[in-house]
Amino acid sequence: MDKILATGGAGYIGSILTKQLLDAGHSVRVLDCLFFGDSGIKQFHKNENFELINGRIENPEAAKKAVKGCSAVLHLAGLANDASCDISEEKTRLINYEGTKLLLKYAKSAGVQRFIYGSSASIYGAGKNISLTESSPLSPVSLYAKYRIRCEEALFDAASKDFTVCALRKSTVFGYSPRQRLDLVINAMSAHAFNRHEITQMGGSQWRPNLHVSDAANAYITCLRADKDAIHKQVFNVGSNSENYTVGQIAQMIADEFPNTKIVHKEVANSASYNLNFDKIGRTLGYKAKVSVKEGIAELKNALNNNLIPAYENNIYYNAKRMLDLQKEGAF
Ligand SMILES: NC(=O)c1ccc[n+]([C@@H]2O[C@H](COP(=O)([O-])OP(=O)(O)OC[C@H]3O[C@@H](n4cnc5c(N)ncnc54)[C@H](O)[C@@H]3O)[C@@H](O)[C@H]2O)c1
Repeated sequence: MDKILATGGAGYIGSILTKQLLDAGHSVRVLDCLFFGDSGIKQFHKNENFELINGRIENPEAAKKAVKGCSAVLHLAGLANDASCDISEEKTRLINYEGTKLLLKYAKSAGVQRFIYGSSASIYGAGKNISLTESSPLSPVSLYAKYRIRCEEALFDAASKDFTVCALRKSTVFGYSPRQRLDLVINAMSAHAFNRHEITQMGGSQWRPNLHVSDAANAYITCLRADKDAIHKQVFNVGSNSENYTVGQIAQMIADEFPNTKIVHKEVANSASYNLNFDKIGRTLGYKAKVSVKEGIAELKNALNNNLIPAYENNIYYNAKRMLDLQKEGAF
């Protein structure tokens, strides 16, 4: 099989994706600068179908080397949440936007045939209605989301008949990964319910669509296998209609799974709220997310019980805190 490049392949979603690709018999190259260590991929170092380039996407040499000989690029690397982007607009532009444009340029000239971009449902931002589709207006409320939109534009500008592109607007991801994140709503509340018996509910009425980490990874593989005309220049919301919940509903589901958990309410100003429709990806690609939020919370509880997520306050689990640590060390 051809070689696939997964940028950010050591990350929370990326490490699960790398495993799924290797299990499916692909040869996988990961381009990742290991901001959060290599816990997600160290199990693959001895696998002859796995290769790591420890480098930055915005570095021309690293980007050029990474795309060489690959048939497809699955692009997940970058600053992955609002708070990390808020540290520096300049770094957000350089990494998330210029880095993406560089990869597109080199991928295209190296003869890569498909480029799947990991976008985000957060670009709908302050959504006015429920059941938003891919053609609903975008209303980003964060720098992170604004640059995701610019990256989608750059992606579609780069499209050609030999360069198939598509964007996956993923819901908020949850569940266990060997590179764990605890700054995502369901993961964070689960860790707090387990360790503190208390969760903080920021707001409550805002909608969030939710997606298990294995289903997020599987969406990339679905696009890799799809007929190229089915995905070319398309955007897909990734998630499932049944897994849109308000933050208040999520807090209650977690309190139900972890008995004796107190819910503390805090107000939030100008929070994003988006409830999405996922019919297009099901209709066009036959994609179906398999793991429900309820099942994901049970999985997290099991991981916490088995000490698979130790020292839950360690900054490695929280992207923005980790980036601030790296900034102090001069590594970001
Ligand atoms: N987790 C979610 O809920 C979610 C939802 C929608 C979209 N996304 C997007 O999916 C992608 C992956 O998210 P994640 O949750 O796995 O985040 P993550 O932070 O765990 O993974 C990102 C990976 O990219 C690497 N990286 C960051 N900057 C880099 C650079 N300049 N060069 C090379 N590597 C770099 C990091 O080391 C990390 O391994 C991100 O683009 C994120 O914005 C995530």
